[in-house]
Amino acid sequence: MKIVGGSTSGSLAKAIARETTASIVDVAFEKHGGGFPDGEQYVRLLGPVKGDHVVLIQSTHPDPRIVEFLLLADAIRDAGARRLTAVVPYFGYGRQDKRFLEGEAVSAKTIAKHIALDCDELLTMAIPANPQILQNFPLPAHDVSGMPAIGRSLKSAKVDVLLAPDRGALRLAKEASTIAGVPFDFLEKKRIDSYTVKIEPKALAVKGKFVAIVDDVISTGGTIATAAKELRSQGARRVVAACVHGLFVDKAEENLKACDDVIATDTIQSKFTKVSVAPEFAAAIRALG
Ligand code: R5P
Repeated sequence: MKIVGGSTSGSLAKAIARETTASIVDVAFEKHGGGFPDGEQYVRLLGPVKGDHVVLIQSTHPDPRIVEFLLLADAIRDAGARRLTAVVPYFGYGRQDKRFLEGEAVSAKTIAKHIALDCDELLTMAIPANPQILQNFPLPAHDVSGMPAIGRSLKSAKVDVLLAPDRGALRLAKEASTIAGVPFDFLEKKRIDSYTVKIEPKALAVKGKFVAIVDDVISTGGTIATAAKELRSQGARRVVAACVHGLFVDKAEENLKACDDVIATDTIQSKFTKVSVAPEFAAAIRALG
């Protein structure tokens, strides 16, 4: 098996290669220093893949990385790979899994359709849509849980309790709490707009406790900031935010000052990346057979 990492998932690709003892095929992402002046992408495989099972690792975010993914998948196929497994750690454009209004694009399906052109199967993690959509993708697709990684990290940080900021994250907090060996609770969140959320008042047993807020995605940090303020007002001693995908857009850094620490995985590399999901993806790749 050989691993090819896209430019946004290079360190995760190396970590997965170590876990699976597969070799890395290096990629050149520029033809000339500085790349193309118009921003177009370039890829070149720097090693052979003929007859190999290749695992291509690349998040489809931000937009140019989607094009890069497609170029890499096409180049791997043209170079004669026998089997191509796509590992898309963060499935960008995964939010829309339904057509709410006539004429809308179902963006998760659009991306999956293009991945399926060259790939035989897909592994992703905490897709922002209902994971049921994976059953309707035009290639075999599996959602790999990042919660074991989050749970391990929170266990070693010695948190007392986990909190889901909304019902959507309840399943995640529950899974992480099993691994961390601590109880969990949840809040009811109402989204007012893309930047504002409201949390229903609820008594939480957090006085003097070290609490971790667990979510799939941190985008603007609005959800986390609102939950953290609620925890502080109820006497929490220390508050950390833990997420699988750290997008950190807009005023996220400002909002996250409401927390003592922020922990994100390496599905999207950032200064908050403190835990790797390589063991989870390596196990899922092995399970494909
Ligand atoms: C949706 O509800 C997700 O689980 C996250 O809570 C949401 O994407 C976080 O967004 P933001 O950081 O902008 O509040």
